[in-house]
Amino acid sequence: MNKKFKFVLDRTTNVQHGNKTFYKHLYNTSKIIQQYFPNEQYLIDAGLYHAIYGTYYFKFDSNTNREDVKKIIGDRAEELVYFYSNLENRIDQILEHKFDFNLQKDLYIIEYANLLDQIIELNAEQFEYFKEIKKRLYSHYNINMSTNFYKDQLFVYDDKLTRAELNHLHRYCIQSKYKFEHTSDPLFPSRDLRFTCHLSARELEESGVLPSVQKIVNNLNQTLYLYDFYINHYPQTSYVNRHIDAAFPGCLTIIIFCNKYWDETWGGELKIYEENSTVHKVVDFIPGRIVVFDSQIEHKVLPLTPFAQADRFTLAIKAFNDPENVDKMDRSSMIEIKCM
Ligand SMILES: [Fe+2]
Repeated sequence: MNKKFKFVLDRTTNVQHGNKTFYKHLYNTSKIIQQYFPNEQYLIDAGLYHAIYGTYYFKFDSNTNREDVKKIIGDRAEELVYFYSNLENRIDQILEHKFDFNLQKDLYIIEYANLLDQIIELNAEQFEYFKEIKKRLYSHYNINMSTNFYKDQLFVYDDKLTRAELNHLHRYCIQSKYKFEHTSDPLFPSRDLRFTCHLSARELEESGVLPSVQKIVNNLNQTLYLYDFYINHYPQTSYVNRHIDAAFPGCLTIIIFCNKYWDETWGGELKIYEENSTVHKVVDFIPGRIVVFDSQIEHKVLPLTPFAQADRFTLAIKAFNDPENVDKMDRSSMIEIKCM
């Protein structure tokens, strides 16, 4: 293990910070900074050490000597950490925007990363601070810390679920208890239907899909906040009419195709509508396939044909990629998947 990390880990063992270990919080904060500023090593290091002396809000005494820290991360990073740690009513002081141009920028960045790592735990006031810091970074420094990169995008993955995971997931779908749900096609109400089974966070974990979701998060290089998860059961000839999953930006839909076997003649494809186009995309229903798309994109599940010899099962996960949306939902049932 790198000396910088080991030094922090040795001094924070068994210390808890919110819903995670203190070390994990320090580590995450530096990773967030690294994503935006891969070449600013002093900032990345300051993120990792930002609370090593304790802070105004988080009392912690590691008996850490400043000179030892300087030897590891250098004077510039250490001095920034020391200044940050000793700010009384820190967030208020930072928001007063009264420090030197560059110091002010560094404080905003560390505070932004620090709050982003705790986004699910923030209270309403802290949430406002978080949004304000992001605005200031853009207006004063032209730094865009936006995390919503996925407007109008569609991703198709065929390599994220193992065969064993798919077998388990398929069994999980078969054993679930469904409710009947009509959707929205007035012309064919008897066919625009499906059966759904909403899952709790624990049940989603039991379905065994979280390792695959983690792989996708790593691919997207962006933390996702999962806020709604359910299994869909489509019997023969059923479909779901053209619709969108979310009306506001910064949301992704993840659809996992849960059948173990499927023939092309059985239908059940996912049709993705291209805005302002007469030609659209049709994604084949391939066992184990995972489709991820911006929830604002219109889509439809095409009908199962009379040839279909199995019902169609999918697991749908709705997620935010823009952390500002976390404010809009019940955070107690949310699952955060950080990119690693
Ligand atoms: Fe949908």
